[in-house]
Amino acid sequence: MDAPEAMDRLREARAEGLAMIEAAASLEDLRAAEVAALGRKAPVSEVQRSLGALDPADRPAVGQAVNRLFEELREAVAGCREALEAEAEADVAVADRIDVTLPGRRPPPGGLHPLTSTLRRVVDAFVSLGYRVSEGPEIETEWYNFDALNFPPDHPARLTQDTLYPDVPGRDDLLLRTHTSPVQIRTMEAQEPPIYVVIPGRCYRRDTPDAIHLPVFQQVEILAVDEGLTLADMKGTLEAFARAVFGPEQRVRIYPDYFPFVEPGAGVDVSCFLCGGVGCRVCGAGWIEIMGAGMVHPALFENTGVDPERYSGFAAGVGIERVAMLRQGVPDIRMYYEGDVRFLSQLARSA
Ligand code: DAH
Repeated sequence: MDAPEAMDRLREARAEGLAMIEAAASLEDLRAAEVAALGRKAPVSEVQRSLGALDPADRPAVGQAVNRLFEELREAVAGCREALEAEAEADVAVADRIDVTLPGRRPPPGGLHPLTSTLRRVVDAFVSLGYRVSEGPEIETEWYNFDALNFPPDHPARLTQDTLYPDVPGRDDLLLRTHTSPVQIRTMEAQEPPIYVVIPGRCYRRDTPDAIHLPVFQQVEILAVDEGLTLADMKGTLEAFARAVFGPEQRVRIYPDYFPFVEPGAGVDVSCFLCGGVGCRVCGAGWIEIMGAGMVHPALFENTGVDPERYSGFAAGVGIERVAMLRQGVPDIRMYYEGDVRFLSQLARSA
């Protein structure tokens, strides 16, 4: 190649290179054009490599022309890249734009789950009597769930048939609490009387689901320990609870029942809120069984260091699902846990 040929090649290389660069429609095209116009195999690079074969007198002029062309092509690439990048950014802005000219779609308002509103109603009934909320662990020890509550060692409730035992290596004393009563023990250990606590919580039993049983359910427990508390205080308290939860006209009646942690133990009925106590399809003879209760057994005081000569107390436990089913007229406990929004919103409207 001689100098005039070299200059011709450079002119062609310039025209082709600039055309390719300007034709690039995307950043990817531009990268390809850059390689073709400026890379090792580009015509301008070939001319650069052949400089050594030129007449030494022609080399400076051709060499300068090569350098100028390199520069011009690089500038063209840079200019084109800037334009393409700006375009890409503008595309993203268009793709991400939000049309604010349409009226908004209003998301349907949420509401409390009917079991949550029932639980709150029950807890609030006691809070308004001056009780404080207390909670305990759902994984309990055999001691708190049974022994400290005066269950005899061979009580059938302890069997794996009724109680769920988690598989924790090295701990064979753990279980999923079967009721909220163990929190009575924890509370009496942690504080001195007077004690007035209301204890909501989830409980677990090895039950097969049916219309009135689920292996996971919720209870609210109360515990009162003070000087001079009697069965009359218990009855009055439970009556206040029944009125707050079921209606201002409600009465309660108590009858002997057995729970190892209370003496005497009692079952508690509330007068039927549907028929007012005359008898109907839901209640039968006018009363609905609602909770267990009783005077705190002295063994619990002994297990927690409370002086039984000075203090007495009462306790009660109620199943939240049962209260909800009664109040809301729901025939099957499983409906609460199916998450059917039609069911939930129907109850939310009526709760
Ligand atoms: N823990 C009992 C149960 O789950 C309910 C109960 C009965 C709680 C009597 C009490 C009580 O506090 O005094 O069946």
